[in-house]
Amino acid sequence: MSVQSAAPKGAITLSKLKKMKQNKQKITSLTAYDASFAAVIDEAGVDFVLVGDSLGMVVQGLNTTLPVTMDEMIYHSKIVSRGLSRALLMVDMPFMSYATPEQALTNAARLMKEGGAKIIKLEWGALEVEMVRRLSECGIPVCAHLGLTPQTVHKLGGYRVQGRDNPTAEKMRRDAKILEEAGADMILLECVPELLAKEITELVQVPVIGIGAGADVDGQILVLYDIMGISKGKRPLFSKDYMMGAESILAAIQMYDKQVRAGTFPAAEHTFS
Ligand code: KIV
Repeated sequence: MSVQSAAPKGAITLSKLKKMKQNKQKITSLTAYDASFAAVIDEAGVDFVLVGDSLGMVVQGLNTTLPVTMDEMIYHSKIVSRGLSRALLMVDMPFMSYATPEQALTNAARLMKEGGAKIIKLEWGALEVEMVRRLSECGIPVCAHLGLTPQTVHKLGGYRVQGRDNPTAEKMRRDAKILEEAGADMILLECVPELLAKEITELVQVPVIGIGAGADVDGQILVLYDIMGISKGKRPLFSKDYMMGAESILAAIQMYDKQVRAGTFPAAEHTFS
């Protein structure tokens, strides 16, 4: 029997992303929901692709991510994974698919076995530290999503910037550290003031990826449909339409990738203070 490596030559792994943080090289990421777009993102050289439960809003036309099911996440992960040869695949655990540690384990394993996920993402709430610990102990890589967590939009009272006052900022710093200690491999910050995002990035050793979290994080992620200018309603302030003036979708994604790596995206106008 020949011994094969877990990832094809040149493929992005979690350890490569961790090294990129140490070397202060920016990490790039986009969401994707199907094989064709995944292949273009892969070709553009983006480091990792997230099958986000944002698919509920941008693909299914819903107002929130809450109705998205495990079966739908697995279906989209499967088809996205067919388009990837280099980029790492991260997949969201949908709302209420990780209400108990047992349920979290079962569903994370399904995303990996059936969907091809290499790392799963869950939104941080009071219970999740034990989940992260359990998943990590079982060898499942985890990204913890902090800040604006769309699965709790009704509790948060809307899609708003998080961590603007001292108590909530302090809680977010503490949560990031606790999650890292529990075994989280990555942290994603959504809609967080840039200074707080910078502090959290310096506080933890794992890569911190931002969306609406300023430029001083280890990498950036955006929703594919926002950068293509086809999202319903107003484009979020932290995003940018890369199709404007671009010759092709590939060129637009390459420009996003280039600007993130050069530190020119996000600019001040895409950032919260
Ligand atoms: O579901 C999603 O697309 C996300 C991004 C906003 C990071 O979680």
